[in-house]
Amino acid sequence: MAESSIKVPLIYLIAADKEREGEMLRALGRRYEFLTFVDTGALLHQVMIKRPAVIICEDTAPPNGGNKFRERIRVDPDTHTVPIILTGNGSNVPKMNNVIDRYLLWPFKKSQIIDCISDLINVAAEQQWEALPTLQKETLKLTVEEYQDVATAIENGDPIDYHKASDSCTPLVKAIQDNGHHELLKSVQNHHNYTYVHSLRVATLLTMFGHGIGMDEDNMNILATGGLLHDVGKLVTPDNILNKPGKLDDEEWPIMQDHVVQSRDLLQAGDDVSKGAHIIAAQHHEKLDGSGYPLGLKGAEMNELARMSCICDIFGALTDARSYKPAFPTEKAFGILESMDKGLDMGLLKVFKEIFSDTQPAE
Ligand SMILES: [Fe+2]
Ligand SMILES: [Fe+2]
Repeated sequence: MAESSIKVPLIYLIAADKEREGEMLRALGRRYEFLTFVDTGALLHQVMIKRPAVIICEDTAPPNGGNKFRERIRVDPDTHTVPIILTGNGSNVPKMNNVIDRYLLWPFKKSQIIDCISDLINVAAEQQWEALPTLQKETLKLTVEEYQDVATAIENGDPIDYHKASDSCTPLVKAIQDNGHHELLKSVQNHHNYTYVHSLRVATLLTMFGHGIGMDEDNMNILATGGLLHDVGKLVTPDNILNKPGKLDDEEWPIMQDHVVQSRDLLQAGDDVSKGAHIIAAQHHEKLDGSGYPLGLKGAEMNELARMSCICDIFGALTDARSYKPAFPTEKAFGILESMDKGLDMGLLKVFKEIFSDTQPAE
């Protein structure tokens, strides 16, 4: 399998004029891949060839205006799910009632358009999940909603409701018993909230691991919930550090590492958090040779659950695409894990690899 490309959303743009086009490209060119057009005919032609993540179109775009183009896109079954942001001075704001249609008034802030694009990508991803089998669809819908609720609770200083999080993982456990994890690992990647995507992928891998070694449903649910919540501390990590495309510097790295302590404390503040979920959150960056963080635990100080979560966390991160790195093929990811023979439990890694490979869907 070839390495998949770096994951940068593709945006098609018709701006009001060259000056505004330049402004947009300078402000957003590092985050997104842009193709620019001068009229909606050429834009429509390209949409038919390759679907973009989002279209941004000036409402006065020639020949017939952005809204006529939007209406055209919405009635065609091949294109009706492509999100559109119309931009303009507001003199003629059309009536739009589709959740993937937006109107942005000039002048707008960079953060406004970035939020709007992310939101539309997520709404479009959630719409695509509708086509999945019931268990996978339920898993993604319930867990993404739960992740948003957890983020809101943290923002408001409220405790995390562990039981609610655990309930949201019920279909995930069933999907794994039904051997549906590969589809979940793939489908969730369309979403644009990376911390959620990573967390759901780690939850899926951990639960699959637990199922493979014969755990019962209750323990699988603890793995699923622990995986879903293991990085909640990242919800309070500053965005510029969390999403920095390059290497973190000496000042930034400890702030990033602090997400583990934050995750642990946020979970501890809630009621009835299971011991297993707590270990997953608090110890998923520890290493057997003591080189991990935050405690530098060694050998027998790390129980089986901590060792499993460490393997799944790294495997999940390696096989996921980010804006600054491609998703590694599974073989390459396993090669990297196998080279970490001092930090990881090689016996458990072998078992994990066997479980993952045995359940690989036929190509
Ligand atoms: Fe983490
Ligand atoms: Fe993680």
